[in-house]
Amino acid sequence: MDELEPPIRLVDVHKSFGSLTVLDGVSLDIPRGRTTAIIGPSGTGKSVMLKHIVGLIRPDRGEVRVFGTDMASAPESKVYEVRKRLGMLFQDGALFDSLSAGENIEFPLQRHHPELSASERRDRVEEALQMVELPGLYDRPTPALSGGQRKRVGLARAIITRPELVLFDEPNSGLDPITSDAIDALIGHLKETLGVTFLVITHDIVGTVNVADHIAMLYQGKLVAWGTRDEVTRSDHPIVRRFLGRNLILPDPGSAGSAVLPRIG
Ligand SMILES: Nc1ncnc2c1ncn2[C@@H]1O[C@H](COP(=O)(O)OP(=O)(O)OP(=O)(O)O)[C@@H](O)[C@H]1O
Ligand SMILES: [Mg+2]
Repeated sequence: MDELEPPIRLVDVHKSFGSLTVLDGVSLDIPRGRTTAIIGPSGTGKSVMLKHIVGLIRPDRGEVRVFGTDMASAPESKVYEVRKRLGMLFQDGALFDSLSAGENIEFPLQRHHPELSASERRDRVEEALQMVELPGLYDRPTPALSGGQRKRVGLARAIITRPELVLFDEPNSGLDPITSDAIDALIGHLKETLGVTFLVITHDIVGTVNVADHIAMLYQGKLVAWGTRDEVTRSDHPIVRRFLGRNLILPDPGSAGSAVLPRIG
């Protein structure tokens, strides 16, 4: 496994469903230890792109490399090793309704960390529940959770194994502004303290500008903009401008530093 390679590398990825072309030659490197936001209109293939990264969807053509492993051609055991190192929040939460909130969060620990005792696992889950501001909800039945609570349980589950790479599909949608800010702060904290690489899909433009070091914009199957947060928010590309809108408050120009640009093939 090539650790010098960025944690995620897409090389000329093509994907169609029947006659619908969703990804039309997407190449992108996601830099390590940074937060990259993927933005773009609804139905443009953002979730499909994320599902390629976890190996749930295979490209028709091109490579999807995660920690140096091509997710489409690697044997199942290798794909499992990669999945162990990443956490994923699906857009719909993808919680098991038959498990309690805490059991849902604990699930990846049981699967990937059998060396932990039941009480160690329980402590980790309680800690995660605190982090997402749901203390004491371990036993709450999942069907009884509100939309925002489901989202936060999904977030806790995504980070419970302390993954190196975290993929969030719309972490803020359906959350009130205060919880949404708390989630953004959590992302910032994990990035700073653990050096976690985040890939976040979001419609929340203000949140994007707050948390993202890099931004990539997907439009009609292609990347139309990529670069540091400042570069993309200042872009005069008409589609980017229309998407970001006139109300965007531009960030402090000094704050993004000399971050490395993602490579576009
Ligand atoms: N398994 C599938 N089979 C057929 N079509 C699919 C499948 N998955 C996604 N699509 C289609 O691919 C397109 C892109 O879907 P995707 O979910 O990636 O959009 P998105 O950019 O995440 O949108 P949103 O912002 O609304 O979540 C849509 O037209 C969708 O209907
Ligand atoms: Mg989506």
